[in-house]
Amino acid sequence: MIADEWPNQVKSLPIAPESPYDPWSANEQRYPAGDQQQRLNELLERFVERSAHYIGFPNSRILDFSSLAPFLKFNINNIGDPFHPNAGINTCDFEREIIAFFAEIFSLPLSQGWGYLTNGGTEGNMYGIVRGRDAYPDAQLIFSEESHYSLTKIAHLLRMPHTVVPCHGDGRIDLEALAAILAALDGRPCVINLNVGTTFHGAIESPEAVLKLLDAKGCKDFYLHIDAALYGPMLPFLAGAPCFDFRLPINSLSFSGHKFLGSPIPCGLVLCDRKRDQHFGSSAEYVGSVDTTISGSRDGFSTLILWSLISRLQQAGLAELAQESLRLADYAVDRLHNAGIACIRHPHSNIVVFRKPGPQLASHWQLATRGDFAHLVTVPGVTEEMLKIFVNELAVDLKIT
Ligand SMILES: Cc1ncc(COP(=O)(O)O)c(C=O)c1O
Repeated sequence: MIADEWPNQVKSLPIAPESPYDPWSANEQRYPAGDQQQRLNELLERFVERSAHYIGFPNSRILDFSSLAPFLKFNINNIGDPFHPNAGINTCDFEREIIAFFAEIFSLPLSQGWGYLTNGGTEGNMYGIVRGRDAYPDAQLIFSEESHYSLTKIAHLLRMPHTVVPCHGDGRIDLEALAAILAALDGRPCVINLNVGTTFHGAIESPEAVLKLLDAKGCKDFYLHIDAALYGPMLPFLAGAPCFDFRLPINSLSFSGHKFLGSPIPCGLVLCDRKRDQHFGSSAEYVGSVDTTISGSRDGFSTLILWSLISRLQQAGLAELAQESLRLADYAVDRLHNAGIACIRHPHSNIVVFRKPGPQLASHWQLATRGDFAHLVTVPGVTEEMLKIFVNELAVDLKIT
């Protein structure tokens, strides 16, 4: 049964206006917040201060979703398949709108595809890779050494033999090494996870380049998953950016909802084609849905967050924010260069890598660090003013004044 055929879910019984359903108010009075409020106020103040010094991780701050607060008292659960919602309190119809919005952006006709809102990028990658493993049970999983650390965990959980492709010093995948790995497969199947882009350097592992290699090395049985954790909702709006969507023979694609889209609650989206069968998805009669997702119970509040965001911004708003984010990365690079600090930034990237400062400055600005390097990410919510102050402090810390 497809979504639109689903019987109109909640044929609610009329509620007498003089007795609206409200089990909450009495308990609110019975168990007053008391001192707790003070602690929460302090936490709020701390979060405001920490947000003003948050440049190291890719979490945008775009809209204040407090208008959704009235929904916080409900037991919203998008359990099961969003295209087979149960009759309970869920936001599956909003979820399907989000799926359709991004399916259009990524050129996936929903008649030939499917998707759901995940708990985040890791679950999206796991979902894509499990589909690949089910299509080719003996496949080698291939991913670059610059992939997110959770890829090793996914290989372990799925008990997949895996090969890690080396990368260049600036984070780009070594395509010659990948060519040798594919040649050594000798026609045996593989599941490839490609990063659009990588966690630390933001380098893009071009699906088109890899598809050419697969062809050149005679690999016909492959499954291609695209991990676009940060860039997914950003790159489609940047002129000249490489294609990474379903116009190419990719099989699945996922991104995080709390990165570029800035959901305050971690979440994500995975989309896939329907060229392969899904090897799980039995009817879950107990909850009135179909068990096609990795998680059972699924958050339906972050669905409202993403839905509010896309319906207010539309594609035009996302495009504006994507372009502003790149302009801010230009600004960060200029300031670093003017201060005599070398940095790496890949095309179409809002990630800037530079030498790591001392621990105090790194923790003050919540920089993501790795070895001798750190990075900043110019997502929406980071301002020129923050970058100006940061670069001045960095120059002093690195003693380049
Ligand atoms: C390339 C990449 N993939 C996957 C992930 C994991 O995403 P999440 O934290 O949403 O599970 C990240 C997070 O930083 C990432 O950068």
